[in-house]
Amino acid sequence: MNGWLPVLITLFKGVHIAALILWCAGLLALPLMLSRHDPDATSEDYGRIRRATHMTYAILTTPAAIVAVVAGTWLIFFREVFVPWLYAKLLFVAALAAAHAWIGHLVLQVAEKPEKYRPPRSYLPVTAVGIPVIAILMLVLGKPEFGEIPLPDWLREPRGGQLPFDVPKR
Ligand code: HEM
Repeated sequence: MNGWLPVLITLFKGVHIAALILWCAGLLALPLMLSRHDPDATSEDYGRIRRATHMTYAILTTPAAIVAVVAGTWLIFFREVFVPWLYAKLLFVAALAAAHAWIGHLVLQVAEKPEKYRPPRSYLPVTAVGIPVIAILMLVLGKPEFGEIPLPDWLREPRGGQLPFDVPKR
């Protein structure tokens, strides 16, 4: 192993874990904060919770998600983990990203239509976040052996076909 690689892996894994703690904590806190949006509260209280929700989403949770994904992507290549548990993990990361986008949509709706819009009960977004987080942690910490992904032969071998357009020669 190249001398710098263990150092880089330790650094990137530390950044990955710190960022994903902030990401997941933010995604779990936001639905609870949204449930405290009460347009009947005084405008000062309402403004405070609305600002806190917006800041938590825009300044903490979304940047942390980007850092976690970027550091995780580098780790794939540093650790050369091209294995089925990682692909399964990425499927649940996609579900977590979808939950992130949904919560962002709720934050926006609450800000834009404070009188009309009522966010869903907080257990729904908390479940949408909790299920992928638990699945990801089980996959990444357990690293289960899934064996080979069954793929047909034609997907495993070069077919010797030509692209339908000219490509530059090396
Ligand atoms: C696109 C997003 C992500 C990518 C590409 C990614 C990729 C990776 C890779 C390649 C590793 C190193 C695995 C190893 O050293 O064997 C890792 C470690 C880890 N990841 Fe992620 N990850 C992502 C998101 C997440 C999320 C959302 C969570 C948690 C909810 C998470 C939890 C962890 C944990 C706990 C470790 C440390 C595991 C260990 O050292 O045994 N990751 N990640």
